[in-house]
Amino acid sequence: MKIIAASGVSSLDFACEVLGNDGLVAFPTETVYGLGGNAYSDKAVAEIFRCKNRPFSNPVSVCYSSFFAISRDVEVNAKARLLAEEFLPGALTIVLRKRTDSKISRLCSAGGDTVGIRVPNNPVALNLLKKLDFPLAAPSANTSSELSTTTAQSVCESLKNYENLVILDGGPCNLGIESTIIDLSEENRPKILRKGAISQEEIERKCGFKLVAAGIQKIVGTQISAGTGRTVEVSRLSHYKPVKPIVINVRKIEEGDALLAFGNPIPGAKYCLNLSENSDLAEAAKNLFFMLRKLDSTDARRICVMPIPNTEIGAAINDRLEKATQKDN
Ligand code: TXA
Ligand code: MG
Repeated sequence: MKIIAASGVSSLDFACEVLGNDGLVAFPTETVYGLGGNAYSDKAVAEIFRCKNRPFSNPVSVCYSSFFAISRDVEVNAKARLLAEEFLPGALTIVLRKRTDSKISRLCSAGGDTVGIRVPNNPVALNLLKKLDFPLAAPSANTSSELSTTTAQSVCESLKNYENLVILDGGPCNLGIESTIIDLSEENRPKILRKGAISQEEIERKCGFKLVAAGIQKIVGTQISAGTGRTVEVSRLSHYKPVKPIVINVRKIEEGDALLAFGNPIPGAKYCLNLSENSDLAEAAKNLFFMLRKLDSTDARRICVMPIPNTEIGAAINDRLEKATQKDN
C-alpha cells in the first residue's frame, strides 16, 4: 500500500506506469474515490473485483477524460449528448450500449451488453485520464458492501488487505456522494438507476425528458439487462453498510448512542458529529461517508441519524442511509 500526494512532480507518471502494467491505482473524483485499472485489460479488471471482493455479477463503470473519447466504445445517442452538454464533466454515470468493436473488458458489463460511462470533474482524475491511452474501469474504492470513501486515508483503511494498491491523495472529495446513474441504453425509455449528487429534478428540468425510476439497488435477485433478455444480477439490496446498527430519522437517543446530527443536535449523545450545523445539504453530503466511518470506529452501541430533508442531494443522502439500515439478503 502506497499513498502518494497527487500534487507531487512525478506522481501521475508513476500512477500511469502502475496502470500500464495492469496494476491498480485509487484516485480522487469529485464524488468519491475510485479504484482504477485499465478498462481494456481483463487482467486489470479482474484484479479490481478481487481487490474489492466484489461479485462478478455487478458491472463496473468506466471513466474517460472527455465525452468525446467515449464514442470509440459505446453507441452515443441524442439524449446522452444532451446530458453530456449539461453536466459533463460531472457527477453522472450514463449507461449506454457497448459497441461491438469496443476493447472494453467484458467483465465491466457483467454479462450484459452495456457500459456505464463517466467523465469525472476532478483535476487529478482528468489529468491522469488524459495521460493514459486507455480508459479506467473504476468502481468506488472500498471493500464491496462497505461505505464509499472520500479521503485517501479511508481508502487505505477500507482496502487494507490489498498490498499492491497505490493511492493518489488529492484531498477530500468535493461532493462526497456517488454519481447519479442514468440508463440510456434504451433511448426512448430513460431510467434513473441510482440517485446521486445531481438530482433527478435538475436532470429532468435541464434536459427536458422524464426519467423512469428503475431503482436497481432496491431489486433483490435479478434484473433483465436491456435488450438482451439475459438476466444479470445487477445489484444487491444492501450497500454502504457500517458495522454498527444504524437508525435513521431519529428524534430521541438512548444511552451509549452515537449521533450523526443535522442542524441543531439532540443533546446527550456519547459521540456526536454534525453533518451540517447550518442544515446545508451539500455540506452534509460531503461529510456523510467520512463521518459515518468515524462514528462506526467508536465504541458506541448504535449510530443514530437525525432527519434529513428529502430534497435535492438530500434524496441521495437518504437513499444511502436507508440502504445502510437494511439487512443483508
Ligand atoms: O461516483 C461514482 O459513480 C463513483 C466514482 C468512483 O466514479 N463510482 C461508483 O462506482 O460509485 P460503483 O461501482 O461503486 O457504483 C456504480 C454502480 C454499481 O452499482 C453498478 O451496478 C452500476 O453502477 N453500473 C455500472 N455499470 C453498469 C451498467 N452497465 N448497467 C447498469 N448498472 C451499472
Ligand atoms: Mg460502490
